[in-house]
Amino acid sequence: MDLDALGVDEAIRRDSRLYVPSAYYFLRRAFRILDVNDVTGRTFVDMGCGLGRVLFFASQFPFRRMIGVEFSSALCRTAEISLIAYYRRHGLVNPPFEFRCQDARAFEVPTEPAVFLFNDPFGPMVLEPVLRNIVAAHEKTVGDAIVIYVNPTCIDVFQKFGFSVTFDGINRSGRGFVVLRRPAMDGRAQLDGMFQTARDCGSPV
Ligand SMILES: C[S@@+](CC[C@H](N)C(=O)[O-])C[C@H]1O[C@@H](n2cnc3c(N)ncnc32)[C@H](O)[C@@H]1O
Repeated sequence: MDLDALGVDEAIRRDSRLYVPSAYYFLRRAFRILDVNDVTGRTFVDMGCGLGRVLFFASQFPFRRMIGVEFSSALCRTAEISLIAYYRRHGLVNPPFEFRCQDARAFEVPTEPAVFLFNDPFGPMVLEPVLRNIVAAHEKTVGDAIVIYVNPTCIDVFQKFGFSVTFDGINRSGRGFVVLRRPAMDGRAQLDGMFQTARDCGSPV
């Protein structure tokens, strides 16, 4: 499937970056910042996963499942084949993984606690609709939403959607990563949501 078949128009392609893998050095540092509760049982999503380097790396951690989203079918397919071969060769039992060969704007964000990785995959034109989907899913999820943003160029767009930088790992040459978090709904909002659901179900609360 090529980008024409995916309905990816010219403007979106111009806003999208070419494949450059994340440096292991940044990945090691970024994952060290995360708490054990930040990874255990969460879903890991690499937005623009390329050849899957980050998914290989993330498979060492106790994520519930991993998803790679990538609109180049050649990259996506190669990543999937390599990851299966790697697991088999090393006899590893890893979290289940899925590859979605699609434009990130069309990705249906799971309503479950998640860590998202963005290695500067695209500019604001694609990032905004992607974040709108992430926020809509997060509103239905317990806990905060976590983003590792490698080589960030659009932190302001994340901030516009309620994310704050909680760790700055940018070096003097402007390379590195930041960790951003979008806080969980407060207890009151969560309770209201639960009461609303109970009322919808005809419960007397
Ligand atoms: C800089 S590379 C990062 C690769 C990988 N995440 C890593 O860190 O090793 C960005 C990737 O995003 C993909 N990409 C760019 N725009 C996209 C879009 N709109 N939807 C899905 N993937 C996209 C590119 O094809 C490329 O593989």
